[in-house]
Amino acid sequence: MAHRWNNDLTRADVTPKAAFLNRRQILAGTAGLGAIGLVGTGAQAQTLEPNTLEEITTYNNYYEFGTGKTDPAQNAGALVTSPWSVKVDGMVDNPGDYALDDLLAGLTVEDRIYRFRCVEAWSMVIPWNGIELADILNKVGVQAGAKYVAFETVVQPENMIGVRRRVLDFPYVEGLRLDEAMHPLTIMATGVYDEPLANQCGAPIRLVVPWKYGFKSIKSIVRITLTDQEPPTSWNKANPREYGFYSNVNPTVDHPRWSQATERKVGGGLFAARQPTPMFNGYPEVASLYEGMDLTAFY
Ligand code: MTE
Repeated sequence: MAHRWNNDLTRADVTPKAAFLNRRQILAGTAGLGAIGLVGTGAQAQTLEPNTLEEITTYNNYYEFGTGKTDPAQNAGALVTSPWSVKVDGMVDNPGDYALDDLLAGLTVEDRIYRFRCVEAWSMVIPWNGIELADILNKVGVQAGAKYVAFETVVQPENMIGVRRRVLDFPYVEGLRLDEAMHPLTIMATGVYDEPLANQCGAPIRLVVPWKYGFKSIKSIVRITLTDQEPPTSWNKANPREYGFYSNVNPTVDHPRWSQATERKVGGGLFAARQPTPMFNGYPEVASLYEGMDLTAFY
């Protein structure tokens, strides 16, 4: 299906999935960024085998639709995603309520195969389609003095069973430091496998920060705020002893209740060995963002 802001494209323009994957492997071989379909693990780069669309859309965390892994797939059909607008406010040159198509108009949708590591110690490999968050921030104009970006998820109580049950303090909120937000690995995803995001994956637009635990990747975003204060984040508010603001993937810092050294790849099968979790989830190029910070400390 054509992306809605590419009105000149039709179904006939869609790349078949096999070719799409093949093209990405070619890109991966030459990618300057090292972001596309490859994870640097120090000495050697590792080629990624993406999860199936079925796995990506049936094993989810989206507490607005319930706390079970299959609840979002069952309940998120009720989410109304059109029309969709995103409020951009705070320390920006061009604040406003943007229709999603207007916010993204003229920006490039890229293919990124990223590892995705949940704090619960499961992982997937997901072929996202998305726009670099930096492109969106540059478009709205970040003002000098802004240090953080805050994000907010839509609240539709009538459509969200988990919101009615108040399983968290909604709206779900998240945040990044500005340099994290501007890093080229950070994207706003609008699709998976060249199809628009399924509701349970955070339609129509969600954050993806591949070197951080999955809960930073906030879904169905309706507000982006530039601020000079570290913004509150949902899991930190819910349990500050267990979830910090930075939440970078770090196999040497255990969760208070379980080890983070290894992970179970979803779809790997019942008897598959757990995989070691790499530092920064295998994206060592972000290490310079944290120079001078004690990475063994809890943030
Ligand atoms: N965003 C919202 N609004 N609500 C949520 O419950 N869960 C987070 C994150 N974003 C969540 C959210 C968590 S814990 C994870 S691991 C990822 O979404 C899961 O993304 P996925 O379901 O696409 O794999």
